[in-house]
Amino acid sequence: MQQDDQQSPGYDYEPPGVDHRALPVSVQLTNYEEYFLRGVFGQGGSSVVFRVRDRNGHQYAAKVLTEKASRHSIQRELETYQRIAQNPHINLLTLHLSEKLLNPSPGYRDDVFITEACGPSIKDIMMRAKRDIGNVQSPTFSINAIKSIGRQVGEALFHLEKLKIYHLDIKSANVTFMSTVKYDVDTNLAQPSITMNDLQIKLIDYGNSLPHSTPGIPEIYKLVQPQNLRAPEIFMGIPHSEKTDVWSMGYLMGQMYLGKSIFMSRTGATQIEIQQSQFELIVNRMNATIPEEMIEVSRQGRKCTLDLNFLTNRDGNNHQDFSLNLMRDMSDFPLFEFLLFVLVFNPVERPSFEELLNHKFLANC
Ligand SMILES: Nc1ncnc2c1ncn2[C@@H]1O[C@H](COP(=O)(O)OP(=O)(O)OP(=O)(O)O)[C@@H](O)[C@H]1O
Ligand SMILES: [Mg+2]
Repeated sequence: MQQDDQQSPGYDYEPPGVDHRALPVSVQLTNYEEYFLRGVFGQGGSSVVFRVRDRNGHQYAAKVLTEKASRHSIQRELETYQRIAQNPHINLLTLHLSEKLLNPSPGYRDDVFITEACGPSIKDIMMRAKRDIGNVQSPTFSINAIKSIGRQVGEALFHLEKLKIYHLDIKSANVTFMSTVKYDVDTNLAQPSITMNDLQIKLIDYGNSLPHSTPGIPEIYKLVQPQNLRAPEIFMGIPHSEKTDVWSMGYLMGQMYLGKSIFMSRTGATQIEIQQSQFELIVNRMNATIPEEMIEVSRQGRKCTLDLNFLTNRDGNNHQDFSLNLMRDMSDFPLFEFLLFVLVFNPVERPSFEELLNHKFLANC
């Protein structure tokens, strides 16, 4: 089931339903540069990302923002690109040009980021591999692939931390392979497994990134991160910190092992009910005890919408132990040992990126 891209990078992974005849021939910029459309890399919540070529045939990605994107978030995305430009990292997407469109389409803003072109995202590969084998089972990545990708995501985030930036949108759609990779799905195993010909990745999408606050000034609380990958402190109304992206990185590695979300709950009629059930699921799955001091910080902040009464009514022997429930084979234990090291409830006790890169699971790969 080998996948090959005969056309040009990214084409094989284009989102379904793109009507090429409806795409414009090119994106024209107010500086009179022109980029010719080859197709679509992906669609985000607030953008469409085109595959483009310049006049010399060089490939780029053109991220055109929709009206959903705020001026503020576009500015922050640009500032993050600018900081990275001053101090680039192999695992972080870099900007080629930030410009205005000459003729934006209805529903779109005139802002466009031209960046380097990557390959498919982890999400693209997982969805496609699942579809290839009939959409019933969810293929997973090998421990070595998770280790290698995890290490690179950790390096990228450690670098961002040094640049004083929080990413805050770590998820499988925002980690792309560097080039048009090939993959294979081995269905002879109890759990179908994805093998890749190249595991180099780039972290993309700085649309939700935030700069660190000035030293000494506390961060202001914001409801950040996608809900499934949201760190416990954010559910509890506690401001994000250098440890907040650490949680999502652990989650992503767990998701690559399982082939699907590790904490996913959609029960509840309202957003608040959904958040409540999601939070309870995380507590149970991690068999976590929430430290008193964290509950106190949450209370004082007055931003928490959760009902924490379930903690007192909880059966202390509810051994829904994360590792025992999800681990398929004892040989996978090193990954679970690492995930339990990373997915620590209290951000104060959660390891930093530097610490997790020094953990034996990631140290020698
Ligand atoms: N440089 C790139 N190379 C290849 N594919 C890309 C590139 N940039 C974005 N993509 C694809 O387009 C998708 C949407 O891009 P991006 O995540 O930057 O947009 P967004 O609107 O900020 O998304 P979100 O919904 O995560 O907020 C990505 O998930 C990825 O599949
Ligand atoms: Mg994205």
